Amino acid sequence: MDEFKDYVITKDKLDTGLRGFPIGYCYTSDVLPNEGLYYAGKPIAELAKKSPEEVIYLLLHGKEGNAAQIKEFSIDLQKRSRCHPEVEKHINLLPKSAHPMDLFSCALHIASTFEKKEDWKEDCLNLIAKAPEIVAHVINHHGNFGKTPNSKPELGYMQNFTHMLNVPNKNPKLLEEVLTLFNILHFDHGGGNLSTFVGKAVASGLEDMYGSIAAAMNALNGPRHGRANQENLEFLHEIQDELGKDISEANVERLLRKRLSDGKLVFGFGHAVLRVEDSRAKVLYDYAKEKTLKGPLVELALVLRQVGPKILKENPKITDPYPNVDAISGTVLVASGFNYPEYFTLLFGLARVVGISIQILDERAYARDGKGVPIYRPNYLYKEKQ
Ligand code: MLT
Repeated sequence: MDEFKDYVITKDKLDTGLRGFPIGYCYTSDVLPNEGLYYAGKPIAELAKKSPEEVIYLLLHGKEGNAAQIKEFSIDLQKRSRCHPEVEKHINLLPKSAHPMDLFSCALHIASTFEKKEDWKEDCLNLIAKAPEIVAHVINHHGNFGKTPNSKPELGYMQNFTHMLNVPNKNPKLLEEVLTLFNILHFDHGGGNLSTFVGKAVASGLEDMYGSIAAAMNALNGPRHGRANQENLEFLHEIQDELGKDISEANVERLLRKRLSDGKLVFGFGHAVLRVEDSRAKVLYDYAKEKTLKGPLVELALVLRQVGPKILKENPKITDPYPNVDAISGTVLVASGFNYPEYFTLLFGLARVVGISIQILDERAYARDGKGVPIYRPNYLYKEKQ
């Protein structure tokens, strides 16, 4: 039990949202505070160069597949990918005034009605395969972009998603590349992030895979979690509006200091677990440089990368003053022509369907020698109201 000596429950650990407390095992990924994200023991920077199918295989099996295994797996995903025609029909009846993440959550319940097999593994693989089409229907419907083009699964996982997205004026090659990178970087982030935790908790009551993922997506929708990427872009626009073209380090520093002294938030920095720059952010900064992505937002994000930590480090209460993935992900999406911040969290959700479904499968079908983890039931200590 010595390895658990740092995790003794003491009074100061209560009401901290279970911060840092181990409650089970995660077989897919790990977030190391001083290094960042690993999938099945491999650093995210290495995996970012692979195909989504290769990385999904790794998360599912805990080891990389050889060429024949990846081919067989990709064909299996392709066969599972097409949605029942009723799914699109019912998504198209949902109110467009809702946030796209709310539509996605409803769309998952619709998909459950027409697709579920009540078998954890089948539902996991089917949902991973069908998620790109479900999300394409949601975006095309919500954005009034017209009917979703017929799915062409043989194009590949994210290539087909890009093909099905009817967004106007897209540069298909660049968008495909950026969406693929974004997708891989967001598949999984350890076992304790809110949406993953919620998905597993709901599945522990034996709600099916689709409903559990819908619950996870509701958790992801909050501004403290997945909606932060949309909010970060709004933050960049606010800075631009205030500073105009002069985004020199000195000017940005002055503005950040003013925001902080006015009690306003500075977005894109800090993380519950990380204590260094988010390794996913580094991949995207490097990508932006390598592709010489241009535009005022990219320049501003690069200036903030320098100035933000310098200022935030001055406050000893801030445990992680470094950029997280949201500091740059939206900027890269916009630079690739995807200038739709209200769909950023949906893209995050599309990716997270992969990691959360696999973690649910691990907990439901394989944990405790196949018995599965029991229904979640932590204890809250009763206290009289003051
Ligand atoms: C993330 O991707 O950063 C998360 O899901 C948030 C977390 O790890 O708590």
